Amino acid sequence: MSKVTLGLIGAGNIGQGVLAVLEENAGIIRAKTSVELRLKTIVDKCIAERKGAISGDYVLSDDVNAIFDDDEIDVVIELIGGVEPARTHILAALNNGKHVVTANKAVVSAHYTELMAAAKENGVNLRFEASAAGCVPIIKSLEESLVADDVTSLYGILNGTTNFILTRMSQGSDYDAALRDAQALGFAEPDPTFDVSGMDAAQKIVILALMAFNIRADISNVYVEGIERISTGDIEYADDLGYAIKLLAIAKRHGGKVELRVHPVLIHKNHLLADVRNELNAVFVKGRFVDEQMYYGKGAGQLPTAAAVLGDVVDVVLQKEHERDLQDVEFVSIDDIESHYYVRFTVLEHVGVLATITRILAENEISILSVVQKEMKTDTVPVVMLTHVVQESALRKAIKEIDAEGFVKDASVVIRIEGELE
Ligand code: HSE
Repeated sequence: MSKVTLGLIGAGNIGQGVLAVLEENAGIIRAKTSVELRLKTIVDKCIAERKGAISGDYVLSDDVNAIFDDDEIDVVIELIGGVEPARTHILAALNNGKHVVTANKAVVSAHYTELMAAAKENGVNLRFEASAAGCVPIIKSLEESLVADDVTSLYGILNGTTNFILTRMSQGSDYDAALRDAQALGFAEPDPTFDVSGMDAAQKIVILALMAFNIRADISNVYVEGIERISTGDIEYADDLGYAIKLLAIAKRHGGKVELRVHPVLIHKNHLLADVRNELNAVFVKGRFVDEQMYYGKGAGQLPTAAAVLGDVVDVVLQKEHERDLQDVEFVSIDDIESHYYVRFTVLEHVGVLATITRILAENEISILSVVQKEMKTDTVPVVMLTHVVQESALRKAIKEIDAEGFVKDASVVIRIEGELE
């Protein structure tokens, strides 16, 4: 039986979840692992305000040194989020010989190499399962179960807020109302632009790409587009054509090159990812040997995240070391990817408009797969086209030329289509 003493930094929503899961399940954890967990100290910069929500016999402090200077504490759980002061606290904990568990996507995606080096130097471990896809055990799967395979691609619905908004919009809600509901339900970030702009998913795909491909990567290597320009109309057109719209985080390896991107996609309704609704997360992995796998579950929320954090605590205590020799790779520019595209033009209802659009597309060697224009009793109408596979730079050039025509009333909306057309 190992007796392990914990220190918690951050007694907010997830921190309180850790207290709740520990209180309820410490006995189950002990029975399954022979590890007895005892939380000794809780540090929070607003500890005076948090006191009312904390019951139990803990040392409470607003000073992180109450944890770092305590030789009895073996594992530090960091749950404050953001890069600083989280990075400084994690380094201090590691340098004081303590294992660290964090759910912090910002700090892991930006400072993985530095933090892992500090862990190694001090003979301790750092774990971060809850930093990407919440309690879905994708990091553990990539690091352990799939370690003998060559992961070739990974497609994630990694942001619960945007998935919730897109699901609600597909059920008739408008964007603003859906976002307000996501905030009220507590999975949106304090500043939800971080969710809807795709940045949250981008940080998470950096972490997963690092685990899957064993590469050095950071947020600057990810092409990021959010869901701000997706309308209910786009969701309806996509639905009529047999697709759902999802914000996907995509990581693909082509030999020595890697593609990292986050953007909305049309994905065929037959694909498992199209069925991932509301705030749920999923990661679809393709490996050379294992072929296809999908991991699915709650990507946010107090108790699911807390359960993943405590799973990591047991891992560090059991001394599961995860040392890597990361490789440098070349990243593929978004201009060079090839895809089918969905394009929505917003144009005046004039003779010759369609002829001009198709001429410009033809001049750029873009082949149209289908065109939808619904009858509308308005002067401005949406025209939706699906293209054959084309290089992104050619499509962008053609759209720029079309959008410069006087009959175009709003910048055209371009959404990549993931997978083969069915
Ligand atoms: N804001 C995040 C989401 C929370 O919506 O997925 C979990 O990282």
